[in-house]
Amino acid sequence: MAEAQWVLMATGRSPTNIAVIKYWGKRDEALILPVNDSISVTLDPDHLSATTTVAASPSFPSDRMWLNGKEIELSGGRFQSCLREIRRRARDVEDKKKGIKIKKEDWEKLHVHIASYNNFPTAAGLASSAAGFACLVFTLGKLMNVNEDYGELSSIARQGSGSACRSIYGGFVKWCMGKNDDGSDSMAVQLVDESHWDDLVIIIAVVSSKQKETSSTSGMRDTVETSLLLQYRAQTVVPSRILKMEEAIKNRDFESFARLTCADSNQFHAVCLDTSPPIFYMNDTSHRIISLVEKWNHAEGTPQVAYTFDAGPNAVLIARNRKTAALLLQRLLYCFPPQDNDLESYMLGDKSILSDAGV
Ligand code: ADP
Ligand code: DP6
Ligand code: CO
Repeated sequence: MAEAQWVLMATGRSPTNIAVIKYWGKRDEALILPVNDSISVTLDPDHLSATTTVAASPSFPSDRMWLNGKEIELSGGRFQSCLREIRRRARDVEDKKKGIKIKKEDWEKLHVHIASYNNFPTAAGLASSAAGFACLVFTLGKLMNVNEDYGELSSIARQGSGSACRSIYGGFVKWCMGKNDDGSDSMAVQLVDESHWDDLVIIIAVVSSKQKETSSTSGMRDTVETSLLLQYRAQTVVPSRILKMEEAIKNRDFESFARLTCADSNQFHAVCLDTSPPIFYMNDTSHRIISLVEKWNHAEGTPQVAYTFDAGPNAVLIARNRKTAALLLQRLLYCFPPQDNDLESYMLGDKSILSDAGV
């Protein structure tokens, strides 16, 4: 490797994903192995995504990272795990134009600088850790010319944040919890791609963009230690829900999809309440949104909209089609008028809805 002061860079972008059957609870903290399978939908990267640039240079004395413009500690095991796993798989890189030649063994000694930005609230329950770690792994892999399949990348992203393993793919994705103690079979697979069910429209109602008080990691640790309901959920409820959800997605059966999605969100938050001390991720505005959707679905006789809330108060609303999404926006605007501070904004998961629906 020439000692000239060069910098080699790569940039990537990864969308976030929202679980419709939730991951909550680890059986192995260090490897991030979950207590149950989960299923999610990956969002459109134009709206909710992380963009990460990684740079390597012989002039960097240490690994450093900036998140949304602020330097953060890389000492946490998660960043180190991702870096270590990608470095282990690094291959030779040659950039003839810049006259750079890096041999695969050189990557062990080369330090990296990482800068990442989220185009949506960080640590507010919209799965920034999913977009962030998927993007980190993907972009480091690009820089170091890693040639692994998506399953392997997913397994590495999992070691950054569990939910990140699902953001490697678009469409509907399942994280198979795996059986092995070393985590080698705990990775995500794509169930169907983004074109399979393109009638669906996802609307994100931002109730609060503030950072949550209890991170997902510490919240689920407390749940594993104290909740009896979690064992029942993981062993009895989720396995059959996963099968039903896979069927609903395959058949584009919105009724079944919506019922399972809402029930699973509610059970996840019930498990949070069953934790000691109890964890409250949703607030009054979240509850008002649930009531609005429940009443509407009840009045129609068949579900029109599904709701799901991750570890935060923000609502993810999935409308069965564009027409319903337009009605939903109208209802949200009526119940939460723009001057009302209860709802900060509505982010659209499908950029064409406003123009197509003519609202
Ligand atoms: P969220 O609900 O947003 O996923 P978490 O508590 O699960 O909240 O995770 C938030 C943490 O994820 C942040 O404190 C940070 O460590 C990590 N994170 C968020 N965005 C990124 C990013 N773009 N790149 C790397 N790590 C990120
Ligand atoms: C409620 O993946 O953020 O969003 O693995 O500790 O980083 P760590 O937790 P994280 O937890 C996500 C929890 C959830 C449900 C889900 O995404 O499945
Ligand atoms: Co997270």
